[in-house]
Amino acid sequence: MWGLKHLVLISTTCIVALTRAVELDVNSDVSIRDASATYAYGVLTYYTGNLTGTPVELIGMFPQPYYWWEAGATWGALVDYWAYTGDPSYINTTIQALIAQLGPENNYMPPARNAELGNDDQAFWALAAMTAAEYSFPASPPDVGSTYPSYLDIVRNVFDGMITRWDLSSCAGGLKWQIFEANAGYHYKSAIANGGLFQISARLARYTGNATYVEWAERVWGWCERIGLIGRGGEIFDGSDDLLNCTELNHLQWSYNAGAFLYGAANLYNYTNGSSVWQTRLSGLLTATGVFFTPEENATDVLFEQACETRGECNTDQLAFKAFLARWMAKSAVLAPYTAPAIMTLLTTSALGAAAACSGPLPPAANDPATANSTVASSACGSRWYTRSYDGVTGLGQQLAALEVTQALLLLRRAGPVPITLPNVVIATDVVPTTTLGVPHRTATGEASGPTNAAMGRFALGEEEGVLGCRILWTRAFDDLLDDEACFQGIWVAG
Ligand SMILES: *[C@@H]1O[C@H](CO)[C@@H](O)[C@H](O)[C@H]1NC(C)=O
Ligand SMILES: *[C@@H]1O[C@H](CO)[C@@H](O)[C@H](O)[C@H]1NC(C)=O
Ligand SMILES: *[C@@H]1O[C@H](CO)[C@@H](O)[C@H](O)[C@H]1NC(C)=O
Ligand SMILES: *[C@@H]1O[C@H](CO)[C@@H](O)[C@H](O)[C@H]1NC(C)=O
Ligand SMILES: *[C@@H]1O[C@H](CO)[C@@H](O)[C@H](O)[C@H]1NC(C)=O
Ligand SMILES: *[C@@H]1O[C@H](CO)[C@@H](O)[C@H](O)[C@H]1NC(C)=O
Ligand SMILES: *[C@@H]1O[C@H](CO)[C@@H](O)[C@H](O)[C@H]1NC(C)=O
Ligand SMILES: *[C@@H]1O[C@H](CO)[C@@H](O)[C@H](O)[C@H]1NC(C)=O
Repeated sequence: MWGLKHLVLISTTCIVALTRAVELDVNSDVSIRDASATYAYGVLTYYTGNLTGTPVELIGMFPQPYYWWEAGATWGALVDYWAYTGDPSYINTTIQALIAQLGPENNYMPPARNAELGNDDQAFWALAAMTAAEYSFPASPPDVGSTYPSYLDIVRNVFDGMITRWDLSSCAGGLKWQIFEANAGYHYKSAIANGGLFQISARLARYTGNATYVEWAERVWGWCERIGLIGRGGEIFDGSDDLLNCTELNHLQWSYNAGAFLYGAANLYNYTNGSSVWQTRLSGLLTATGVFFTPEENATDVLFEQACETRGECNTDQLAFKAFLARWMAKSAVLAPYTAPAIMTLLTTSALGAAAACSGPLPPAANDPATANSTVASSACGSRWYTRSYDGVTGLGQQLAALEVTQALLLLRRAGPVPITLPNVVIATDVVPTTTLGVPHRTATGEASGPTNAAMGRFALGEEEGVLGCRILWTRAFDDLLDDEACFQGIWVAG
């Protein structure tokens, strides 16, 4: 496997080498690339969708408990992995997955996935295709033929469908979380669904220059601000109930929501040649990401999922979210170079934390003679980077988050061997910061602070409310769904 032969031990102060953690010298492109390769290998150990005999509708999927969205998110990470490292190992697997889940209308709505197909899930797949378009990722391999639309046309198809679902029947707009009424969460207007459309619109705007996409990005942003999903301090709150006409908010903050809006705003900042409107918005969003860093005073600038992580209560989905904030912060730094110094600091510190936390046994690798005694065999990632140790909570999302935060450094260091100047999107440039932007450190230790407004008190996180198990907290409309099935659909009902 590419890269694994090149794992090197360099002793500098930047190396984290507790027991057999992943070696990472953040000053060495070779080391960052090798660590990324190790994580990517770990990600693929979870993949069973290419085994002989896999039904066609399961190609590209990861097995339970991983939902369809996380598979789309993973292939997006592997497109970046290819672009940033030049490693071709997973190209074919990734192409196959991106094609297999397209569905009959080439818009990532495969009927087999209807029971878990929300606007956000579709968005994660579309964003993978968008990245493939931006980086000129190879299309279908020669032996498959090329009867598929281009990655760009796939994203356009998704966009065209999403805007038909812009819902004026309540809240004066917004995308519902779910597409199908039968799915729990249909009456939730979620940040990630709207952030997904926002980012898709913004990236299409920048990539194509078509004004329709700019108008939609502005529309989604404006609606989110009016409803309050985008807070006055640039916070992204999780969602609102359309049966209440979006008069109340779920104030939980999740890192991937912040990332989705951040990178959309960075695209518009760049598209508008650095307009002050988008600079103000982007700076506000970036400042608000401070809530996701520094969980403890001895873990300054380390990324964590503040709503669940220090309490060990993140569910499978939530364990992956850090991946997307890291991914989209790094990409934002490229499009808005004034943000690069702050982002570089945060992601470098976080990647070092991840390396230390990725020191558990990776069973499939341990069983593979080729990697049995290598660093790879002890590169299973735990969930809490700030502890600088393996916490035993391992999984696809944890592996993915470590991959994203680490390969992000390659982008930030403008060091990829392949890309640099690709059509339209330049992922590596000489970054000359024009201003500095501080991201405030979180001073409180430990727990996420609960909402202070009494009216919102019922959204407060608390063990008494049993935050375990599911992806979002919401209190209304789903009272009959507090069971495993509801959890599997991604709903958890509080109160
Ligand atoms: C499935 O994909 C992984 C990663 O690309 C690869 O290592 C493995 O050999 C593939 N398995 C099959 C049966 O193609
Ligand atoms: C990808 O598939 C093509 C043929 O479709 C093959 O030539 C190439 O070697 C494959 N690449 C890898 C890394 O397996
Ligand atoms: C719902 O909220 C929107 C603004 O968000 C408002 O224009 C509309 O009148 C409200 N509808 C009802 C029925 O209250
Ligand atoms: C701009 O995008 C919209 C939405 O996809 C599409 O309908 C329209 O044809 C595009 N305009 C041009 C000039 O390509
Ligand atoms: C950005 O600047 C370029 C070059 O000066 C110009 O062609 C383009 O129209 C500007 N874009 C916007 C949205 O102002
Ligand atoms: C837009 O992004 C490019 C990199 O693609 C960068 O060189 C340029 O400085 C950015 N524009 C602004 C206004 O920051
Ligand atoms: C790995 O190490 C163990 C214990 O030192 C040894 O028995 C085994 O042969 C080694 N495997 C390989 C593939 O080198
Ligand atoms: C950080 O501080 C906390 C609380 O004082 C302590 O429990 C923890 O072990 C420290 N972590 C590290 C990595 O030193």
